[in-house]
Amino acid sequence: MSGTYVVRTFGCQMNEHDSERIAGLLEADGLEAGDDVETADVVVLNTCCIRENADNRLYGTLGHLKSLKDRRPELEIVVAGCLAQKDREVIAERAPHVDVVMGTHNVHRAVELLHERRTAGRPVVEILSETVAEDHELFPSALPVVRQVGYAGWVTIQMGCDNSCAFCIVPAVRGPEISRPFGDIVDEVTRAALDGVTEVTLLGQNVNSYGRDLTVRARHDSSDRAVDRGFLLGPEAASDDDRVRVRPLFAELLRAVGSVPGIRRVRYTSPHPKDLRPETIAAMAEVPSVCEHLHLPLQSGSDPILAAMHRGYTAERYLERLAAARAGIEDLAVTTDIIVGFPGETEADAEATLEVAAEARFDGAFTFVYSPRPGTEAAERADEFVRREVAAARMERLRSVVERSSRLGNLSRVGRTEEVLVEGPSRKDASRLTGRTRQNRLVHFDPAGPVRPGSYVTVEVTDATTTHLRGRMVDLVAGPSHRVRIPVAAE
Ligand code: 5AD
Ligand code: SF4
Repeated sequence: MSGTYVVRTFGCQMNEHDSERIAGLLEADGLEAGDDVETADVVVLNTCCIRENADNRLYGTLGHLKSLKDRRPELEIVVAGCLAQKDREVIAERAPHVDVVMGTHNVHRAVELLHERRTAGRPVVEILSETVAEDHELFPSALPVVRQVGYAGWVTIQMGCDNSCAFCIVPAVRGPEISRPFGDIVDEVTRAALDGVTEVTLLGQNVNSYGRDLTVRARHDSSDRAVDRGFLLGPEAASDDDRVRVRPLFAELLRAVGSVPGIRRVRYTSPHPKDLRPETIAAMAEVPSVCEHLHLPLQSGSDPILAAMHRGYTAERYLERLAAARAGIEDLAVTTDIIVGFPGETEADAEATLEVAAEARFDGAFTFVYSPRPGTEAAERADEFVRREVAAARMERLRSVVERSSRLGNLSRVGRTEEVLVEGPSRKDASRLTGRTRQNRLVHFDPAGPVRPGSYVTVEVTDATTTHLRGRMVDLVAGPSHRVRIPVAAE
């Protein structure tokens, strides 16, 4: 193929990650990255369906693309991702100008499907209902990649989710939990580090249970090949004497990834509070490259609501786990996800969430108004939906509680000198630079001389607001080592 492509991503990091893989495949097939939908030859929309506004945004964008395609019929439109997985033929029916609809399990097929569409002369819809566990090639990280930034990378360690939170569409669109072999992940991180990536974020829906399915498989595999075992389960489980112990391997994975030469920072998202294990806390405390940041989704602070959500913990249990993490990991920052207005949520439930959020002293929170996802358990409870204005008022109160603790958390850094990974010029003031501390706090600072994105610097924090820190650079710790793609100037 020749021409340019644009990939637009909606939703979470898992989608960002799939988008990088789709871009990599298109480039391997001869297309070049474009930056304008108006002129691109192929436009890929990688969709999300976790909340309702994501659907609305997709259909809005498709409406705009229709007028572009009326003018330029050669434009090819691909809809990928979770909404495609969920809505399947509906997208092609509602938007017949779409050329390819593909789901979450066939990211690796993007180019073939475009070729099929050209040969067939009509739109192609391919939605696989699950990932083939045996085939490691299907894991997006094993595909070519075009990283959004050269110095940081996302690595999928697990796909799907075996939980059944009553509000959540993920198990339906991403399927059951499948872990990627241990050795495969370490190899991917090693390759990324050789390319100059210094920060990796491990991605999974429920990272604490990473590897459990692999140990189950290994236990039932009578062929007992020690080498394969090491690749599949990592060095510790490979030395299990006889029968493999069924257990999650996440803490071991953190240790292995954290000691890959060149990797200075390891992050991960998301653990489920019900299975946050002491081994994970120990690995976070002991491996210097694993950052002091835990994203631990609370969802609600009310026990009846947590039970109705099928979250598997109470508010007290959540706070205990959090206290254990804070006691074990020095200088830990904590962020969370909270849903407001779950069906049946009363004033007392909302109040309980405010109390737990205040007690948890979150450094940041993604707060969402509950959005019914057809096919999920909670969506059936239409008679108990919380009125929009009521949910909005509860959201306001929750935001002010979270803002208070975020602000105090940021203020507690003033006077310290922090290591910052530089992202680039600050959007508001180009004379300043922006980056993130190990705790994932956003920092705007005055540079001391020219500093390239991907560098590590130390910054003295002089001031803080609810959303960010401000400071001045002290020293350059390390320059970037990734290759920089130099765009061809079009004049
Ligand atoms: N409505 C609102 N928020 C939701 N989330 C997931 N499903 C829904 C829904 N139906 C939120 C949860 C989850 C985050 C990724 O999105 O808080 O942790
Ligand atoms: Fe959804 Fe719950 Fe699985 Fe997270 S743990 S992906 S919220 S079902």
